[in-house]
Amino acid sequence: MTAAADSTSVAPRRRLPPRAGDGAILVTGGTGTTGRLLLSWLLYEAQASRVIAFSRDEQKHHDLLQDPQFQHPALYSMVGDIRDPRRLREAMEGVSLVLHTAAMKHVPIAEANPSEAIRTNVEGTENLIRAARDAGVARIIAHSTDKAVEPSCVYGATKLAMEKLLVAADLDSGRDGSRFDILRHGNLIGSRGSVIPMFLEQKKSGRLKVTDPEMTRFWIDPDSLISAVHQVVIDGRGGEIFVPRSPAARLATVAAAIAPEAVIEVIGVRPGEKMHESLTSRQEASRIRLFEQHLVITPPASGHLRRHDGDAVAADFCLQSDHGPWLDLQAMQTLLSSELVCSHDL
Ligand SMILES: NC(=O)c1ccc[n+]([C@@H]2O[C@H](COP(=O)([O-])OP(=O)(O)OC[C@H]3O[C@@H](n4cnc5c(N)ncnc54)[C@H](OP(=O)(O)O)[C@@H]3O)[C@@H](O)[C@H]2O)c1
Repeated sequence: MTAAADSTSVAPRRRLPPRAGDGAILVTGGTGTTGRLLLSWLLYEAQASRVIAFSRDEQKHHDLLQDPQFQHPALYSMVGDIRDPRRLREAMEGVSLVLHTAAMKHVPIAEANPSEAIRTNVEGTENLIRAARDAGVARIIAHSTDKAVEPSCVYGATKLAMEKLLVAADLDSGRDGSRFDILRHGNLIGSRGSVIPMFLEQKKSGRLKVTDPEMTRFWIDPDSLISAVHQVVIDGRGGEIFVPRSPAARLATVAAAIAPEAVIEVIGVRPGEKMHESLTSRQEASRIRLFEQHLVITPPASGHLRRHDGDAVAADFCLQSDHGPWLDLQAMQTLLSSELVCSHDL
């Protein structure tokens, strides 16, 4: 069954609120793993009237438009680069909500090409903020990563800069200006170029290259990610960082779930990588409001929109991937059987 057919059989529970859903919705990086998930949700479940997928590579646009799942009258594809302010401004005409996923995200590639990562992840975000303001876009929600928390790599540092730019932009917006929020999350199960498709490919040779079996990461499945985005659209007040409370797993568990018979070759931690990730830091604890499924990091100066709902947390609170809660082997196998992972052509 395709994801589109799946989505149509689901009750339309994750609709868009009026201010964000009045105009078109722009998905930067709309041809990527997260972008395509968002398109599917927006077209079939949220029933948006106009959705624009924005990214550079024309082949990815071609593949998107050839995919039966995306042959939908409300979908528009637009070739463009977030480094190009003029093109971004054109893309934002008539847009009420921007979901910003476009990024350079590979840790080793960003380490080797830091200035390129800065141009896309930092300067691209500055362009996005200006274009959104010029076009009067109501809501902007950007995807960030646990690697932005006390970053050890160029990728994480650029995503931290992205978060800071957006929080500051929101503060500058005043009461009626564009609202900027962030969704910070761990590894998306099965996303392009990540460890899961890599292990699935290596499985064919009977050998898996594992950086360190004890390395831990947070994992989020596609449906939980969409629910988290929807939560920010519904509940974001501007300048806030939403963090879904996700489970973690050791790399050894991921390897065993994918290829239990394979020989494990330990290759060591790569430059810029951490053994464990954090979704929040101790420095953020005083600004956290805790909810059942997620937490919100409020902006340093939250003014008239200050949030009093949710629970405060202890001063030493932080979410670390080596503290769990854990995905065991069976839970990881269940997640791996999801459609996104099965859709890898392996
Ligand atoms: N995947 C994860 O596990 C994960 C975890 C946490 C956070 N995130 C964040 O989620 C977002 C999406 O990740 P993903 O895994 O979906 O990435 P992805 O599959 O690599 O997709 C990235 C998308 O961005 C586009 N893009 C890259 N540079 C661009 C530019 N300069 N201008 C316009 N479009 C550009 C790419 O298309 P073109 O190359 O054709 O332009 C592609 O459509 C990123 O911001 C990432 O930091 C991902």
